Amino acid sequence: MKLYWFTFLVLSIVKTSSAARGFSFENLGSFCKNDTPQGTPNLLPIETGAPRLIRNVENGSLYQIGVGDDQTWLVHLWGKNGYDYGFAYGTLLGEQIAQFMPKVYAYFEKEVTEKLEHLPIPESLKELIAKKGLAFALDVQNSFVEPYMDEEIYNEIRGISDAANIDYKLLVRIHMFGELTRAHCSYYGAWGKATLGGKTLQLRAFDWDMHAGLQDYPVITVYHPLSSKLGHAFTNIAWAGYIGVLSGMSSSLLGMTSIGVELPDDTFGDESMSGQPFIFVSRYILQFSETVDDALSYISNVRRTCRLIVGIADGKLNTARMIQYSHSKVSFFDDVNLQPAAEWHPTIPNIVYNGMDWLCPSYQYKLYEQLMSEYGKITAESTIENISAIVKTGDVHVAIYDLTDNILYLANGGSPNKQGPKPAYQRQFNKLDLKIEYARSQPSINEIENFH
Ligand SMILES: *[C@@H]1O[C@H](CO)[C@@H](O)[C@H](O)[C@H]1NC(C)=O
Ligand SMILES: *[C@@H]1O[C@H](CO)[C@@H](O)[C@H](O)[C@H]1NC(C)=O
Repeated sequence: MKLYWFTFLVLSIVKTSSAARGFSFENLGSFCKNDTPQGTPNLLPIETGAPRLIRNVENGSLYQIGVGDDQTWLVHLWGKNGYDYGFAYGTLLGEQIAQFMPKVYAYFEKEVTEKLEHLPIPESLKELIAKKGLAFALDVQNSFVEPYMDEEIYNEIRGISDAANIDYKLLVRIHMFGELTRAHCSYYGAWGKATLGGKTLQLRAFDWDMHAGLQDYPVITVYHPLSSKLGHAFTNIAWAGYIGVLSGMSSSLLGMTSIGVELPDDTFGDESMSGQPFIFVSRYILQFSETVDDALSYISNVRRTCRLIVGIADGKLNTARMIQYSHSKVSFFDDVNLQPAAEWHPTIPNIVYNGMDWLCPSYQYKLYEQLMSEYGKITAESTIENISAIVKTGDVHVAIYDLTDNILYLANGGSPNKQGPKPAYQRQFNKLDLKIEYARSQPSINEIENFH
């Protein structure tokens, strides 16, 4: 069925690339393995320096955080519509976007083309890609989802395209890889008696194919709306020019995580290519939802696409949920009825969690053990030192959200041209106080460089 093929495509790219190239799974990404992960603690001090201003433009400011090879761009955008956001983004980071986007596209195109014969997708679709190319297939995907999209998303992409002088269609196609960005990741939401001082904390460990090079272009984007149609302020944690949300926090104290599912059981529903791509469902929640209850009702009603595990924590209501997500079916879990119910995935009071995949006993249980070893005193610091690093989860990035005090802790993976360990969970974390970031004001005319 045509609506399913993208899923297969995605999963098979990841699988065949690891086998064909002879990399161990360990190097390629963190996959669900039977052996129990046992990493070493991450003892690097957390970098807490204030963001350094690089430049101001109309409707945007560019900062950098972190030191040495662990620097991350921090972009602030102001706008009355998506186009204003995108134009400022493309003006500030045009060079990085122009390097990254064609590179990441070429990487996937090569993966798909080389592995096409072996991809478990219908012959007719292989023929379609073989004859018409991947771009055509992604344009078909876009036509399926367009009716469910907020038009301001397309306007933002248009703004980036105009300011950075990058092909608009290329940018849209990359955002249509939505289902493709599904990754094996880990999540916890912890609150109340599980954490030190009763804080609401969330772990978002993003594990994916490090050869795509996402970790070389990390960008934190803080959106400051000047019109109610853009919702409230929120923060996306992504890569140059990518405006879908895989990881992020909102000014209403919600945190988002999504985890791709490769090992489901029959409690999941089916999938569809037509609907709102999950990267934009996550973005909608950060941009518009006030509480986790709003978020759950949005998820219930939206036309969903693929199978996922979604994690949402709420620093105002001091709670968190885990969502079993698919096109045809959705289930919400708290700390009492958490699924999958198995001896390797015990429930824990005031914690919801998922290690790497749905049916992934080794990672699920290791995450359970680490959470229990820190139980009652979980902090961002103890998560960095004793949870993600030991469970070995979060190669591309690890984000910890303190949703009580609105603070983000973020580490990005290394690459061949960066010193030190590769996986993000072993690298230096940067601390960013989002209360300060949301309070920043739009640069005035005299602060804008080369204003004329
Ligand atoms: C900046 O944003 C304002 C709306 O607040 C808009 O009218 C203006 O065109 C934008 N400037 C640029 C250069 O995009
Ligand atoms: C990590 O675990 C060790 C051993 O239990 C403990 O001594 C240390 O304080 C923990 N780190 C943090 C930051 O809590």
